[in-house]
Amino acid sequence: MAACFFLSLAAILFTLSLLPGSTSLSTTVGATYSASTAAAYAAPPAVDRVAHTVSSLGLSALRLDASDPAMVRAFLYSNTSLLLTIPNQLVPPLAANRSNALRWLYIHVIPFYPRTKISTISVGNDLLESSPKFSTFLLPAIRNVQLSLKDLGIQKISVSTTFSFINVITTAFPPSNAQFQEPAVDTVIRPLLQFLHDTNSSFLINLYPYNLYKMRSEIPIGFPLFQEHPFGFRDDLTTGVRYRNLFDMMVDAVISAMAVAGYENIPVIVTETGWPSFSTDPAEIDANPVYAEMYIKGLLCHLRSGKGTPLRREGVSETYIYELLDKQVKQGRNWGILYPNLTSKYKEIQYSGSDCGGFFHILIMAVGQLLVFALLAW
Ligand SMILES: *[C@@H]1O[C@H](CO)[C@@H](O)[C@H](O)[C@H]1NC(C)=O
Ligand SMILES: *[C@@H]1O[C@H](CO)[C@@H](O)[C@H](O)[C@H]1NC(C)=O
Ligand SMILES: *[C@@H]1O[C@H](CO)[C@@H](O)[C@H](O)[C@H]1NC(C)=O
Ligand SMILES: *[C@@H]1O[C@H](CO)[C@@H](O)[C@H](O)[C@H]1NC(C)=O
Repeated sequence: MAACFFLSLAAILFTLSLLPGSTSLSTTVGATYSASTAAAYAAPPAVDRVAHTVSSLGLSALRLDASDPAMVRAFLYSNTSLLLTIPNQLVPPLAANRSNALRWLYIHVIPFYPRTKISTISVGNDLLESSPKFSTFLLPAIRNVQLSLKDLGIQKISVSTTFSFINVITTAFPPSNAQFQEPAVDTVIRPLLQFLHDTNSSFLINLYPYNLYKMRSEIPIGFPLFQEHPFGFRDDLTTGVRYRNLFDMMVDAVISAMAVAGYENIPVIVTETGWPSFSTDPAEIDANPVYAEMYIKGLLCHLRSGKGTPLRREGVSETYIYELLDKQVKQGRNWGILYPNLTSKYKEIQYSGSDCGGFFHILIMAVGQLLVFALLAW
């Protein structure tokens, strides 16, 4: 028994040695601000209050689904970087004539940039699914926005478009089997990847472990919620790597699909991810505030660990939590991290800094491991 005890102690020390010494956030963490949600309010919160709240929460980026110039103005001189979205219905006119792209930039970017930090412009959001008839316009529109920025001498704003995991990736089980769905891979995605490669831009994807968990009843709840325990893993037998959470599996599925298409090194930005705290459908028992808080906490802690994913050491470059504001009208699901009065729904969550549950979290993990190893030793 004594020998067993020392063995388990050695295992714990080994586990602790794997914890990074100084934890620094390697991924930019932000939130998504949906104009449609804000519009559901009798009195939408003032843009200045939103900007102030984002800064005081410690979020370093905000993704706007409709790029209201008043909102872009509210972030003048702030340290928050913005990811702007051009709505799907503007894609055909932007593709038809570069002066339309220039005009869009003159309204949404030029008056504010660089005093407002704008990192990326997404031309469309989930366009292949929401507006499939516009798909042939997508790449020409992206090119016109990028060329217009170049004409204006702006080098540092990258241009891309946003996809939705469920609508473009074939599978996440195992990640190494993942591919882009036909026919979009040939008509849209491969040419886009070439563009992203040529312009140093990123692949943007909305990715919800919650949705995949709901579709696959065999997935245990701890797996999407980052609740690591010794038997909670899945191995990818092709690559020989072990997954301990569903987020990493889905990110690596995206990375594998890009590699299969011939592009291995394009950075990935998760433009939406989250967990609902409420659903009007009583059958959706996993949409509750306890799980929502566990998901966000687990995600932040995982991103801060600097471990990346098994297939990509540096992980994703930015992650946006869906979404900043709760819906006031309780229809469907609630996703917000803030109540409509802009107070935090989850008091315990720290959106910035390197704290990850702190010393006691590590201690509890170590004691937990000790118990498990002691039980195995018996
Ligand atoms: C932005 O960051 C810089 C450097 O960290 C800091 O000095 C400045 O006060 C910040 N500005 C705002 C508006 O928070
Ligand atoms: C593009 O728009 C500009 C300004 O509206 C117009 O002068 C020009 O003729 C258009 N070009 C094409 C090819 O439609
Ligand atoms: C892309 O990044 C590389 C390395 O940082 C740089 O050499 C190259 O000029 C960049 N290309 C563009 C189009 O910005
Ligand atoms: C904000 O709204 C939440 C939820 O409706 C409520 O519990 C909280 O007391 C409100 N806080 C303030 C300061 O009004």
